[in-house]
Amino acid sequence: MALHPLHGLVEQLETQPIIFIGGKGGVGKTTTAAALASYYASQQQKTLIVSTDPAHSLGDVLNVRLNNEKTVISPYLDAIELNPDVIVDEHFAQVERTIKAYANPDMMPKIREHLKLSKSAPGAQEAAMLESMCHHLVEAADAGYEHIIFDTAPTGHTLRLLVLPEMMGAWTDGLLAQQRRQAKLRSVATHLDSHNQKNDKNDVANPFAAKKSDRWEQAVSVLERRKQLFRQAGLLLHDRTQTAIVLVMTADVLPLAETKRAIEQLEDSKLMPAAIVINQLISTTQLDDFWRRRAERQQHLLQDIEQNFTKYPLYPIYLQQTDVRGTDALSVLLSA
Ligand SMILES: Nc1ncnc2c1ncn2[C@@H]1O[C@H](COP(=O)(O)OP(=O)(O)OP(=O)(O)O)[C@@H](O)[C@H]1O
Ligand SMILES: [Mg+2]
Repeated sequence: MALHPLHGLVEQLETQPIIFIGGKGGVGKTTTAAALASYYASQQQKTLIVSTDPAHSLGDVLNVRLNNEKTVISPYLDAIELNPDVIVDEHFAQVERTIKAYANPDMMPKIREHLKLSKSAPGAQEAAMLESMCHHLVEAADAGYEHIIFDTAPTGHTLRLLVLPEMMGAWTDGLLAQQRRQAKLRSVATHLDSHNQKNDKNDVANPFAAKKSDRWEQAVSVLERRKQLFRQAGLLLHDRTQTAIVLVMTADVLPLAETKRAIEQLEDSKLMPAAIVINQLISTTQLDDFWRRRAERQQHLLQDIEQNFTKYPLYPIYLQQTDVRGTDALSVLLSA
């Protein structure tokens, strides 16, 4: 497919409110995400840009300090940098409060110890990020945003985040089924117990039993809510009228190989990229010999890229003389 000027991308994505920007490390994901967000905001379209990259360079690109809460950048632009440490802490504080309401106070030091270990368990941060990301995704329209743009961490991580809602849904289903089986067994056991100990006060009269079933109800309702959240997010991600995945790459051999793999993985999960941005291109005009040769090599690879990705619109961004920081520099990218 032919190359288009970059402002064609904003027009192409005009009707898809959710945009994911993915790609290999350092290719220009944050720059592209921030350029799109600034453009929509300049058109008075309310936009939220969310960084899911723990490296947090979005604040640097926008020249503002960001954190885990939304920050107003301009009347039509809000930004947030999801911080996995803060999200995990909040999540476990909530779990601790729930347990505290039921547990024997003597047990609390042991329980706290256990929760502390769980916080650093593999996947805890990813799961927390995913849940928070899904919340923003699902709530964006109600919060009045016309565009929500996710600036993500390098490819592998992003792809996992995109397919995780389904996996988490299946996992939550498994947990719920297990909970139900246990509840059934418990009720059979309670029934048998009441037959065996007719003279004893059985579980029904035991106040702890009521608490136990309360706790179970609460656990089930938390799981049901999460399942619902992941299901909604999964549906939105797979709905091409709602979500566009934009892959960013440079005209180099490794990014080309990685982008091919990323597309295969995405297509396997029935997620088609909407467009590919080829960033940091060197213009072939007015160059000395070294740069001319580099530029010609890129132009050569650009032909390979066009042959490889015939199904997708391709948008080149030329390498700027300096890093792209601040809204003025970002808007230059789209006016080229
Ligand atoms: N077209 C460009 N011209 C000049 N500098 C650029 C261009 N695009 C990106 N840069 C610079 O390259 C660096 C990396 O860009 P950016 O942070 O957008 O990449 P990224 O893909 O988000 O990286 P990471 O994988 O670390 O999140 C930044 O310093 C950015 O300013
Ligand atoms: Mg980045």
